[in-house]
Amino acid sequence: MARVDVIRVKGGARLAGDVHVGGAKNSALKLMAVALLAEGRSVVRNVPRITDIAIMAEVLRRLGCDVTLDGTEAAIEVPAEPGSEADYDLVRRLRASICVLGPLLARRGYVRVALPGGDMIGSRGLDMHVSGLARMGADISGEHGFVIASAPAGLRGSKIWLDFPSVGATENLLMAAVLAKGTTEIDNAAREPEIVDICEMLTAMGARIDGAGTSTLEIEGVDTLNPVRHDTVGDRIVGGTWAFGAAMTRGDVTVHGVRPQYLDIALDKLVAAGAVVEPGDDLFRVRMENRPRAVDIVTLPYPGFATDLLPMAIGLGAVANGSSLITENIFDGRFMFVNEMARLGADIRTDGHHAVVRGRERLSGAPVRATDIRAGAGLVIAGLCADGVTEVGEVHHIDRGYPDFVADLAKLGVEVERADVPEPTFDF
Ligand code: EPU
Repeated sequence: MARVDVIRVKGGARLAGDVHVGGAKNSALKLMAVALLAEGRSVVRNVPRITDIAIMAEVLRRLGCDVTLDGTEAAIEVPAEPGSEADYDLVRRLRASICVLGPLLARRGYVRVALPGGDMIGSRGLDMHVSGLARMGADISGEHGFVIASAPAGLRGSKIWLDFPSVGATENLLMAAVLAKGTTEIDNAAREPEIVDICEMLTAMGARIDGAGTSTLEIEGVDTLNPVRHDTVGDRIVGGTWAFGAAMTRGDVTVHGVRPQYLDIALDKLVAAGAVVEPGDDLFRVRMENRPRAVDIVTLPYPGFATDLLPMAIGLGAVANGSSLITENIFDGRFMFVNEMARLGADIRTDGHHAVVRGRERLSGAPVRATDIRAGAGLVIAGLCADGVTEVGEVHHIDRGYPDFVADLAKLGVEVERADVPEPTFDF
């Protein structure tokens, strides 16, 4: 019999206490790719201890780097000539490995990276990565499931307009532009704190970048960059998950390690729902005394409400007093998990990229299944507002984004366990 990991939580819990959040997954993974841009030993600190970081370490090892993961530190020794191929067996496990495309093309003039394909939250194209690099002079084709790019004479600075402020495309183009000849301007660039983090590491390495955190990035190419040590920005999505958890369970949680201004709109929504939010320097406290009021939420690129907090927004609506209209604008498959939330008794109707959620006083515990990282965390938190026990399966998804989820829940007062349960197999 196969065995699978599940997380079981007892409903009726109230999250209370302090929780410490580590570095952002979506920054740390890219910072490890940034290291490829300089020969020598770069160290990325405050990396979360999650599977994705271990996979990224393996991607870099296969490119000839010597990578050591020690606690929350990733030390990456980059050779003079890193490899130029990333295979499907790793890329399919970690979509983010597509971020080696830009830096390798910049350093090697040739790169072959497997296409990651779609996933449970949507189709996730690469057209903006490709057209941006082509504008910088790369010759790009797709063959046998790979993106192949070459620029034997080097990349050249160029003006690039993105159709949409894509996080991944902005990162790949930025990492390519820092070593290109001349000046690159990326318009309608993504403004996420993780992009600013990448710009800060690149600048410390000797890159010339103007406009980090704005929609226009101006990058003047340099000949070489130097290895550095860099601290990863705190994970605003993990911090936001605890903030919603506090509000949904009428709890009182202080989140350490995340700057509240990176969650401005999300925290403002919680205030509208009736929570008291006290911001600090690198922390914030969320308290909720009564049943949350229903609020409408629209996901948008940063500084809008983060799509990665959509499952928490739906969870809040599911237990709120009134009806909430939740609109998703980033991923076409983000609502895939609502059928699981409905198994907990949530009243959710979706139509295209809108969901109407009619709040209920209490949900009802049931076995459910995580369909992606954020949906998994959202289901566990919703389980806290349910009668009885909720068992969330396929928790390997949660492990990809929340390093100490079960331990943190326990510290915040939840009766929680992680169990390894047998899964029947059916032979034909
Ligand atoms: N898109 C295109 N063409 C492109 C690039 C993007 O059509 O060339 C579309 C995508 O299909 C998607 C939308 O644009 O519908 C947004 O994509 P974006 O490139 O902004 O996202 P990403 O880089 O693929 C990162 C995070 C996601 C997070 C989004 C949005 C990483 C590894 N992933 O994805 O995080 O939701 O930005 O903020 O950084 C997660 O952590 O659970 C997660 C999914």
